[in-house]
Amino acid sequence: MFALLTFIAVGNAIAIAPVARRDTPASGPRERLSLNSGWRFKRWTTSPDDVSYSKLKSWVLPSANDFIKDTAKQFRRPSSEPANVTFTQPDFDDKSWEQVDVPHDWAVKGPFYSGANAVVGGGMGRLPIQGVAWYRRSVSIEAADAGKSVFLDIDGAMSYAMVWLNGRFVGGWPYGYASFRLDLTPYARVGSNQLAIRLDNAVDSSRFYPGAGIYRNVWLTKVSPQHVAYDGTWITTKSVSGQSAALDMTTTVENAALAGNTSEIEVSTDIYVWDSASGESSTKVGQFSTARISLSPGSKQTVNSTATVQNPRLWGPKPSQQPNLYVAVTRLRIGEQVVDEYRTRFGIRTVQYAADGIKVNGQRVYIQGVNQHHDLGSLGAAFNVRAAERQLEMLQDMGCNAVRTSHNPPSRELLDIADELGILMLDEIFDTWNSRKVRNDFHLIFPDWYEADLRSFIRRDRNHPSVVVWSFGNEVAEQRGGNGDATARRLRDIVREEDPTRQTTVGMNNAGPNDAFTGVVDIIGLNYQGEGRGSGAATFPDFRAKFPSKMIFSTESSSGISTRGTYIFPVSGASSVTVSDSQGGDPRNRYVSAYELYAVSWGASPDKVFAAQDRYPYVAGEYVWTGWDYIGEPTPYDLSRSSYFGIIDLAGFPKDRFYLYQARWNPTVRMAHILPHWNWPNRTGETTPVHVFSAADQAELFLNGVSQGVQKKAQYTYRFRWDKVVYQPGELRVVTYKGGSPWANATVRTTGEASQLRAATYRDRQSIKADGSDLSFVSISVCDQKGDVVPQSATTVSFSVQGPGEIVTTDNGDPTDMVPFPSPERKAFGGLALAIVRAKKGSTGKITVTATAKGLQPAEVVLEIANNVT
Ligand SMILES: *[C@@H]1O[C@H](CO)[C@@H](O)[C@H](O)[C@H]1NC(C)=O
Ligand SMILES: *[C@@H]1O[C@H](CO)[C@@H](O)[C@H](O)[C@H]1NC(C)=O
Ligand SMILES: *[C@@H]1O[C@H](CO)[C@@H](O)[C@H](O)[C@H]1NC(C)=O
Ligand SMILES: *[C@@H]1O[C@H](CO)[C@@H](O)[C@H](O)[C@H]1NC(C)=O
Ligand SMILES: *[C@@H]1O[C@H](CO)[C@@H](O)[C@H](O)[C@H]1NC(C)=O
Repeated sequence: MFALLTFIAVGNAIAIAPVARRDTPASGPRERLSLNSGWRFKRWTTSPDDVSYSKLKSWVLPSANDFIKDTAKQFRRPSSEPANVTFTQPDFDDKSWEQVDVPHDWAVKGPFYSGANAVVGGGMGRLPIQGVAWYRRSVSIEAADAGKSVFLDIDGAMSYAMVWLNGRFVGGWPYGYASFRLDLTPYARVGSNQLAIRLDNAVDSSRFYPGAGIYRNVWLTKVSPQHVAYDGTWITTKSVSGQSAALDMTTTVENAALAGNTSEIEVSTDIYVWDSASGESSTKVGQFSTARISLSPGSKQTVNSTATVQNPRLWGPKPSQQPNLYVAVTRLRIGEQVVDEYRTRFGIRTVQYAADGIKVNGQRVYIQGVNQHHDLGSLGAAFNVRAAERQLEMLQDMGCNAVRTSHNPPSRELLDIADELGILMLDEIFDTWNSRKVRNDFHLIFPDWYEADLRSFIRRDRNHPSVVVWSFGNEVAEQRGGNGDATARRLRDIVREEDPTRQTTVGMNNAGPNDAFTGVVDIIGLNYQGEGRGSGAATFPDFRAKFPSKMIFSTESSSGISTRGTYIFPVSGASSVTVSDSQGGDPRNRYVSAYELYAVSWGASPDKVFAAQDRYPYVAGEYVWTGWDYIGEPTPYDLSRSSYFGIIDLAGFPKDRFYLYQARWNPTVRMAHILPHWNWPNRTGETTPVHVFSAADQAELFLNGVSQGVQKKAQYTYRFRWDKVVYQPGELRVVTYKGGSPWANATVRTTGEASQLRAATYRDRQSIKADGSDLSFVSISVCDQKGDVVPQSATTVSFSVQGPGEIVTTDNGDPTDMVPFPSPERKAFGGLALAIVRAKKGSTGKITVTATAKGLQPAEVVLEIANNVT
């Protein structure tokens, strides 16, 4: 083994040690290798070492330098080195540590903390996120890599990541939602290299579940010293006219060589149609103008170029438009040799932000959006493409066309999926600035890190056509008074420097029309304001009057809450009700009624929000709080583990509200949905309201064949409701009409006793890939003999597999269920339970998933392992 590179401490991001790195290009284009497998992991609840962010801060801060514009404000690495740490040494014996693959969330397996004084309470999901953890693995560098630059690309590590290679401190990045690159080159050597990563999560570091660990992908990038910089390309649509589109591209090229001659580099970029099966198609449809640059060692340069694409296939949101994509392949040549090849996927589209809403490719798109936190239910924060895709697919089925990434940068892959599905993204970065919400949140590092976090976030995400709005804050304390507007202006200006093509917003629950803060953002983003929260609260017209030309939307709306399949009596006759222990709430069981009328004190029912949106049609749309339930924030019952806000529960079962939104947002679906269920043995003779969600305009309800009356939807009403139905067992049937023609009918019956389990796979997808990441979602319903779901069943379902697969987690969507997620036994909730199944990596054959419950006929599904499933 020889030292490939010698280390010297320098403070500038691209001034690099003056010796030993070859200035001649390495052969071959870049390699990007997954480092997801083969880690050793250990976590402590109290720190096992003498390390802390505050002690090593001076060595960590230089990692931000590429994203600090004013070179005078960039950080210099101290000339001394931090003290050696045992866990970072190549000869440290980690064999007793747990073997894990990443993405990994150490907290999600539980157990849940219970009680009012838990160390991690309801807000953060009652899961053991706290403590210090170390991850170690070896990284091999081949002799052929000598002379190359070697980078570690971490897409997300929660939190305060600090990295060592071969015992030497490399750098770090504290914000757990950031993606970042560290240069390993000075510390790497040919052969085996010991990588060690330390993470540190404090209690009270977030208002919701943050996850814990290296919870996104990790990559090793090996590339010639002359290369396209990290997230170093940016393609925008300058104009689309007639049959062609004019594109601009900027490419940042870096020469990381330490010494030697200036490199003469040719930068060229070809454009191909992106093909969902193969990646890029073989047909080149255009090319950016070629540039030649001279780049001296330790410098970088940004190259501008333009291209024209004839007959462009535009990217636009579904269902009114199609999400067509292109890929740009950038090649750097020195002489005849291609030294780097870099792909940028992008879309061609125009976006206009007008007083009456957003226009994509000239067409107004009303925002039918939801907020989504980053966790994936029982899988926790550990990112999984299939699980994220399922979340977005189900939202799209509902008619959702927009998502706000509350309140932090999502994974890179989530935006890839949104690009492919045609969903408009509001990409948000911060929940706090200088003023805290909880004692250990981002406010602690905001002053040092906001600029680097914000610039790196925008450079990472700005090629995604799905991203149409940047948000640089949510409900920050700085909305009123202090220097809030100055901070907002500083952040907004950074966004504009990095991307002048998109508008900015902040989710404002407090700043009114006359606050200076409100004037700073491009788009008025209102959390619960606007629809009339109560006396004195500003309404949409107040904001419109003050800002006649700004776009206005609800960055958070509704905050309706409910527990799937749970109905609590009596039912309010109002259309929007603040939940309380006596109205819609059941404090003993910690459930909230699914009549979908109940909301938190600052919120409103979906119906009330719809009415406000329709009264003020210039409002560009809404982002409902929230699309899916998430771990943490179990308002109004803090003893629970997960939220009540979701339109879809934590396990992925739609609540009744799903159909209320579908009726409005996806009105071509011929659907009528009846609530509640009709198993009320103790309610015979009692008033039991029946509500129906449908896009129809007229409906007639029958109970055991007897009409309960015809209802017509009045203006500003969004549901059919028969509030005086007197319960008797039997059959409810609704017959609906739209424009005088039959539309859709539905039936709900009183069921018999549970007698069997039934199994189904999500979207009937019975094949999964054995790639270690693909998942199958197997849902179980507890049914009577006819096959009707027994709605109050809470029987315990036991899952098992035969063949090369495993049950990853189970869930039922019950926010009070404290059985750890990996348990193969799960009580049905509202008659339903879910198992998430994965094939063993590299396996072949079949996996049989069996579900059993005492006294019931079991169910099974057979999953086929296929290697070419799409
Ligand atoms: C730190 O560890 C390295 C080996 O990784 C060793 O060469 C060096 O002497 C150590 N420094 C101190 C201060 O112990
Ligand atoms: C640098 O340029 C000089 C002059 O052209 C040449 O002689 C030398 O070989 C070059 N060095 C390398 C490492 O390419
Ligand atoms: C390249 O484009 C950027 C962004 O549009 C612009 O700020 C910069 O001035 C351009 N540089 C050159 C050399 O034209
Ligand atoms: C109905 O009442 C009986 C007797 O009071 C009680 O045991 C049972 O749990 C009740 N059933 C339901 C579904 O509320
Ligand atoms: C619904 O039921 C009505 C009355 O029974 C019938 O006329 C109509 O065709 C049905 N509609 C659908 C979509 O099945």
